[in-house]
Amino acid sequence: MSLKGKIKVSLKLLRELRKLSGISKFTNMHSALVLAIGLEKLGVIDFLEKPRSLEEVANFIGDVKRLDFLSELMEVLEREKILQKLDGHYKVNIDQLDKLKKKRTTNPYFIAFEPITSGFERVLYEVMRDVLRGAEFDFVSPEVATVFYFQNASPLYALGRELLLELGGGKGLKGKRILDLGCGFGAEPITLLNYLDFDCHLICADFFPNVVDECMHTTIEVDGQTKMLKDLEKVEFAVLDPSMRKPFPIPDEHVDLVFSFALLHWSKYPDKIISECARVLRKGGKLMMVTPVKKKEGSRITAGEVLLKLEGGNRFYTREEMEKFLTDANMTDITIFISHMIVAKKG
Ligand SMILES: C[S@@+](CC[C@H](N)C(=O)[O-])C[C@H]1O[C@@H](n2cnc3c(N)ncnc32)[C@H](O)[C@@H]1O
Repeated sequence: MSLKGKIKVSLKLLRELRKLSGISKFTNMHSALVLAIGLEKLGVIDFLEKPRSLEEVANFIGDVKRLDFLSELMEVLEREKILQKLDGHYKVNIDQLDKLKKKRTTNPYFIAFEPITSGFERVLYEVMRDVLRGAEFDFVSPEVATVFYFQNASPLYALGRELLLELGGGKGLKGKRILDLGCGFGAEPITLLNYLDFDCHLICADFFPNVVDECMHTTIEVDGQTKMLKDLEKVEFAVLDPSMRKPFPIPDEHVDLVFSFALLHWSKYPDKIISECARVLRKGGKLMMVTPVKKKEGSRITAGEVLLKLEGGNRFYTREEMEKFLTDANMTDITIFISHMIVAKKG
């Protein structure tokens, strides 16, 4: 992207970002609250009214095999001041926990993420406990899928997708053939179609058949009529292989754009996914992604990353890793905005 283009997009993004002011601070505060609510449901918060060692907490939860995850969980809660650490023992700071709980109804960011918060309160705390016990979950485990079905439909996600579209070329993306990679349950194609006034050819692809099926049956208003996405002429669907052993069922150089929002950190194969994106993109085509980008290897784990791991996701990738995935795939002109938004061009 030219310098002039970057400045133009930055200004536009900054204007929009005012709506999301304090986003990284709130992400960590919110993620820590969610984790604490999970621990509360397991009785751990009451147990931490007295100082306890990591091993005592592990024994209280029972059968913990991922002591590394538990240690990271305690570390981020300490950083967000929900826990205090004294002589290697953790104790809960109830005042801070109560303060964060109040934000559920007062802070717009916390309100936007309420589906995840209440999801943890109702079911995901059990997923968290089972991940600590060594179990593997994926996105379509019923508990996880149900929570994200609602979370993905939030206005904040829609705003995030629109910002990514702005960054990738805005309304100039009209008329293009777009691979919506990790389309989810349907909220995302709706954002794309409405933003582009239905002037695009959309391939909605996801890694799980039931997610794609839900997406196909999602309804959208077109010229005053309610239609299912599967009945729209210029929308098609593809199911992808989450193990990335099979290539995307899409020919080489078939699409102008790949749009991927909040997907990459769920997969253990980000390099293979990016390489497939490059293969299906025409020369000069753009890849647009949202995924958290860590500053560098060894940088402190954040509450957001711990939350992702404990709900069945993989991990956040570093800037260095991301740049390598992209350059290895022959992608150039890499721009990373606000540690989350990435745009690159096929060289
Ligand atoms: C938070 S959702 C985002 C969905 C959609 N982009 C949206 O914003 O509504 C996470 C996405 O990652 C995908 N995903 C989850 N686990 C995955 C895995 N192991 N491999 C590949 N994709 C995965 C899901 O199918 C889903 O499309």
